[in-house]
Amino acid sequence: MKKIAFLSMDSLEDFFVYDDLLIEPFAKVGYTIDTVSWRNADFDFSDYESVIVRSPWDYQQAPDAFMACLERIDSQTQLINPLALMQWNLDKRYLRDLDAQQVAVLPTVWLEDYEHDTLVSAFSEFNSDEIVIKPCISANADDTFRLTREALAAQQDLLAGVFSKRSAMVQPFVTSVVEKGEVSLFYFAGELSHAILKTPKQGDFRVQEEHGGSLSVISPDASILESAELALHAMPTDYLYARVDLLQHNGQWCIIELELIEPSLYFNLDERSPQCFVSAYLRYMSSKKE
Ligand SMILES: Nc1ncnc2c1ncn2[C@@H]1O[C@H](COP(=O)(O)OP(=O)(O)O)[C@@H](O)[C@H]1O
Ligand SMILES: [Mg+2]
Repeated sequence: MKKIAFLSMDSLEDFFVYDDLLIEPFAKVGYTIDTVSWRNADFDFSDYESVIVRSPWDYQQAPDAFMACLERIDSQTQLINPLALMQWNLDKRYLRDLDAQQVAVLPTVWLEDYEHDTLVSAFSEFNSDEIVIKPCISANADDTFRLTREALAAQQDLLAGVFSKRSAMVQPFVTSVVEKGEVSLFYFAGELSHAILKTPKQGDFRVQEEHGGSLSVISPDASILESAELALHAMPTDYLYARVDLLQHNGQWCIIELELIEPSLYFNLDERSPQCFVSAYLRYMSSKKE
């Protein structure tokens, strides 16, 4: 049997993980899977055909250490996704590259430090009664704030503490996240596997399952596919897995983020998706050997 390692974290207790659904289809094509925490700094991956980054869902607390871990793995075996792609994807400033290539993204003001006046003027700049501020390096909606003008005034000290000397992004609050939800499309080595709609729980705007959001399978229409595929073509390298998250803003489907490092791939929601991933893996690995 050949071996693949899934890169994970010390404890997945507070998370929903579906990657075990890959174990059986991988076994059928001759692979065993070991799940290893990225915090296990001395682990030697040389015997593995590849390491697939799957669930290191605390890395945003220590992004430098995490990237060093990925570099170490990359020197030992095939790292998936490719290191260069994950380096590009770590910081949401990659959205500027997409924007420069005519991919539809949300209007964004970029900050390198906390600038209260810029936040105050963002309401008129975006012509919006509510804005969002979030870190450029984040996951799981950590430190993501939805603000009215009043909330901004009331939370100035808190926000200054969270965003001081930290790069951040400011966007209009896109109301469709509550009214419609956020769409995720899952592509494996160039092919669409499945698509879902994520809607927040009553009173929240964060769609993540961990924040009480609900998920359902959808058939994406042509306008969603078009936005997503433009973004995929604008990426700097090839990929095994890509999750494209989109929100509808002013009638257009915009990329809210590309998840290329450790997205949950929701294999539980589409019974064909684990097999689709495994077939994509074999295709991807044979392209690397050419
Ligand atoms: N501009 C926005 N308008 C409305 N909701 C947003 C906006 N930006 C982020 N959110 C909400 O916050 C969540 C997290 O933001 P996101 O950019 O996906 O970062 P991450 O998932 O990396 O934490 C989104 O899934 C969405 O629910
Ligand atoms: Mg997200």
